[in-house]
Amino acid sequence: MGEHRIAVIPGDGIGKEVIAAGLEVLARLQARCGDFRLLCESLPWGSDYFREHGRMMPDDGLDVLRGFDAIYFGAVGDREIPDDVTLWGLRLRICQGFDQYANVRPARLLQGVQSPLRNARAGELDWVMVRENSEGEYAGHGGRVHRGLAEEVATETAVFTRAGVSRIMRFAYELARSRPRKKLTVVTKSNAQRFGLVLWDEIAREVGNEYPDVETERVLVDAAAARMVEKPQSFDTIVATNLHADILSDLAAALAGGLGLAPSANLNPERRFPSMFEPVHGAAFDIAGKGVANPIGAIWSAVLMLEHLGEREAARRLMGAIEGAAGVKFQKTAEMTQAICDRL
Ligand code: IPM
Ligand code: MN
Repeated sequence: MGEHRIAVIPGDGIGKEVIAAGLEVLARLQARCGDFRLLCESLPWGSDYFREHGRMMPDDGLDVLRGFDAIYFGAVGDREIPDDVTLWGLRLRICQGFDQYANVRPARLLQGVQSPLRNARAGELDWVMVRENSEGEYAGHGGRVHRGLAEEVATETAVFTRAGVSRIMRFAYELARSRPRKKLTVVTKSNAQRFGLVLWDEIAREVGNEYPDVETERVLVDAAAARMVEKPQSFDTIVATNLHADILSDLAAALAGGLGLAPSANLNPERRFPSMFEPVHGAAFDIAGKGVANPIGAIWSAVLMLEHLGEREAARRLMGAIEGAAGVKFQKTAEMTQAICDRL
């Protein structure tokens, strides 16, 4: 029997509600399958922890997490605590500390879900976005001088390294190859950004030479945004820089029915460190505590976690249940959670 140790970090806001829903579904799934076990340990880190201890997670938090096989994460964010404290103090600290350089964000229009695209039908929008998750525009390179003066200067330098770009391209090609269409769209902006993004393109071409069976296209990020709306069927696997994919993945989620449904995986593909699975949405304090959040993003993220853990049959079964329930009209988180449990 496969046993996997899972660190559960519900975090803030609706993170707590959707992770509770995810755990309920996972418990039911284990009972149904009977051939794997998740040993879940819940860690109370986040903004409430910050109010009590003055930090988002313990100083040795990464050492605590290192012993787990995966991290199941809800959301961070708080009305009173600045975003850079909550985000950098917990989520990004884990992403960076564990070198989770591949952020995978599937977007698929499920049967019964309404897309804002008038003509899109289920199956016509089936993408996996690969987001470079360790450098680029999020490298944290820059600074400010002459604060408050008329001469004030701020720089924010995007950093692209050969090692960083090569590994994300290789990851994206492997993923594209594993999908039926074997097609990769390399998103770029090398017409305007002539250093980092030209390196990006060059390395894409070099790595692409090793994957002659994968059809590659290069598309400028602005054109890609338009084509996602106009011809959703024309994409399959998409690789983009940290910021480009941040923006495009919100567009993808909206086109596939909303941010509440969108899952993600922050992967350390070499498995030197645990990977982290979380819905794309944030803490959403406007609806927190009301029990109305859509749990699908969190539950679909659990599918990605099961796949990563090698529990393919369980992952397939859970995804089937999500697909079956996605079109159900619901008011409460608990109703959708039940609808998914019923279909396991
Ligand atoms: C995301 C989020 C974050 C990001 C924010 C909260 C910094 O939008 O995961 O996409 O841009 O990485
Ligand atoms: Mn985002």
